[in-house]
Amino acid sequence: MTQTATPSRYTLTAALPYTNGPIHIGHLAGVYVPADIYARFLRGIGKDVIFICGSDEHGVAIPMKAKKEGVSPQVIIDKYHGIIKQAFSDFGISFDNYSRTSAAVHHETASDFFKKLYEQDDFIEEVTEQLYDSEAHQFLADRFVTGTCPKCGYEEAYGDQCENCGSSLNATDLINPKSTLSGSTPTLKRTKHWFLPLDRYESFLKEWIIEGHQSDWKPNVYGQCKSWIDDGLKPRAVTRDLDWGIPVPVADAEGKVLYVWFDAPIGYISSTKEWAEREEKDWEPYWKDENTRLLHFIGKDNIVFHCIIFPSMLKAHGDYVLPQNVPANEFLNLEGNKLSTSKNWAVWLHEYLEEFPDMQDVLRYVLTANAPETKDNDFTWKDFQARNNNELVAIFGNFINRVVVLTHKYYGGIIPEPNTLSEVDQQVLDALKGYPETLANSLNRYRFREASQELLNLARLGNKYLADAEPWKLIKTDEERVKTIMYVALQLAAGLAALSEPFLPFTSKKLKQILNTKKLSGEAEISWNSVSSQDVLIPSGHQINPAELLFRKIEDAEIQKQLDKLEATKQANAQMEKSVTPQKETITFDDFTKLDLRVGTILEAEKMPKANKLLVLKVDTGIDTRTIVSGIAESFKPEEIVGKKVTVLVNLAPRKLRGVESEGMILMTENAEGKLVFVNPDEETPENGATIN
Ligand code: MF3
Ligand code: ZN
Repeated sequence: MTQTATPSRYTLTAALPYTNGPIHIGHLAGVYVPADIYARFLRGIGKDVIFICGSDEHGVAIPMKAKKEGVSPQVIIDKYHGIIKQAFSDFGISFDNYSRTSAAVHHETASDFFKKLYEQDDFIEEVTEQLYDSEAHQFLADRFVTGTCPKCGYEEAYGDQCENCGSSLNATDLINPKSTLSGSTPTLKRTKHWFLPLDRYESFLKEWIIEGHQSDWKPNVYGQCKSWIDDGLKPRAVTRDLDWGIPVPVADAEGKVLYVWFDAPIGYISSTKEWAEREEKDWEPYWKDENTRLLHFIGKDNIVFHCIIFPSMLKAHGDYVLPQNVPANEFLNLEGNKLSTSKNWAVWLHEYLEEFPDMQDVLRYVLTANAPETKDNDFTWKDFQARNNNELVAIFGNFINRVVVLTHKYYGGIIPEPNTLSEVDQQVLDALKGYPETLANSLNRYRFREASQELLNLARLGNKYLADAEPWKLIKTDEERVKTIMYVALQLAAGLAALSEPFLPFTSKKLKQILNTKKLSGEAEISWNSVSSQDVLIPSGHQINPAELLFRKIEDAEIQKQLDKLEATKQANAQMEKSVTPQKETITFDDFTKLDLRVGTILEAEKMPKANKLLVLKVDTGIDTRTIVSGIAESFKPEEIVGKKVTVLVNLAPRKLRGVESEGMILMTENAEGKLVFVNPDEETPENGATIN
């Protein structure tokens, strides 16, 4: 089985984002917020933890984007490295180090890693035929080539992966490959590369994952790994013919670089080195000591790289520990559609902050409460509003506000001396003491949604306690009892300040300021551990600060604005798709004269049984009355088109559709809303059968 003793050290990594665009809510929800919650939680319980990330700057999309914009790749990576790093810091993602793979320490670490494997004979060196674009004078792999997935038939699979079925591919596996550089069909050309023979690691991977982690890895992660291993592993090239990346550090390798997925995960190690250098620490225990628990936080598209390929690399190298767990998430959608950088279908973090300044915790909370942990999930602005207004404002914020306001009203902000605790008081305080363990149980199983709801339950408990005890009524008849009630409620508020820290770091900080916890010295300082171990979190006689709102209500108009923005994006995309329909190949005048277009009138129309799109029409073409099957049923009701004048292509070869012979075609176009409309001759048009040219 797996490690049971409590490890003394944790190395947490979060997927290195590609620097070819800013980051959006999908990245936060899938990777960075859960990783950050876990890092903060571990620090809170006093573990030795480093939380490591950085920019992935050798992705093939980077030089592509640079080419498109007419700048150097360096310009692109500098720009987005800056934007991404800032966004993480704005959202309180508490990396101990955020590096970049263009850093010298990384080039050196990745080169050394490669060299060690090379010297140990861990690679296969092979000249193979690779796809080559002779127009662009470049070998094509990964995102430089698209084609049909050999596994599922999806027509836009990339040369490294099919985004439809998740299969990882080699470019040469694609059916009908096409260069994304020139659009041309590539040819095969010989070139030498180094391959990591994954097949040699099969028994290691079986033992380590299939036998070792069936019960503690998430089912989605374990399942993907298992099907990979069951499918049989093949050698994978770890070098590429490109001019962007880390040069292959051996002789006879000009013009070749390390495959980005070879160098990037080593970035976790280089980033740790950079951190250690700055902090004057030793990096090695965090990667080499058996008692270190290495955890990779990633999205589901990265599973194979973190569970199969990188571990095989680490295993081959020999000096490193393997990941203990890889809690990968599924994907987040936005308002029912896949998030997409190219379609601008996203909520960008920097834009969110412009719209909702100082509301980082709200987004963190919503993305956690609705995290795509076990399946893809949808982010909607309505849900965002509801969770803010009904949960953060109405439950968490409301409880704190009542406690703080009443403490000021009754006691000038000084925590009162309690009298004898009632049974209910004691139950509530006992429940509070149990929360750290409840939360830890969820967090240690990477159930962040569940944990966020448990946290909210603590605020609910506080609200219920106050609502039942009604100190605002009792104050008139039993001042002594009210002191006890307020004392108990203040302990809950202090507990919330401590336990909310991993989830809502900005709120936790503000709440600690309101409760003036800095003034609590030494052991009395509130922390995750003190909630379970101390009877008193915040003592009688302590002075708290005036109330401040932790959360504010979000109005309908603010949500509508976001929805309008998305709608505008949708329209712009539709417009774009339309305006880019390219002109077809030139035809000769003779070609044109072959088309026999006539004015006709629809005489009858009825739905084709069991077909959603088809109408069966009887059309008077002037020549004859004939049957035409037309795919317009989603745009027209049969009765509304009877009598319409239309343009008909009459000499199209007849074709059977659902058993009905169609003799011609009616000319149609699409209006701005995507509804089909007839290309109809002017109503004054001549007779049926008049020719159109
Ligand atoms: N840049 C990759 C992505 O965004 C993730 C790289 S993770 C690392 O999908 F392990 F390679 F660093
Ligand atoms: Zn596929």
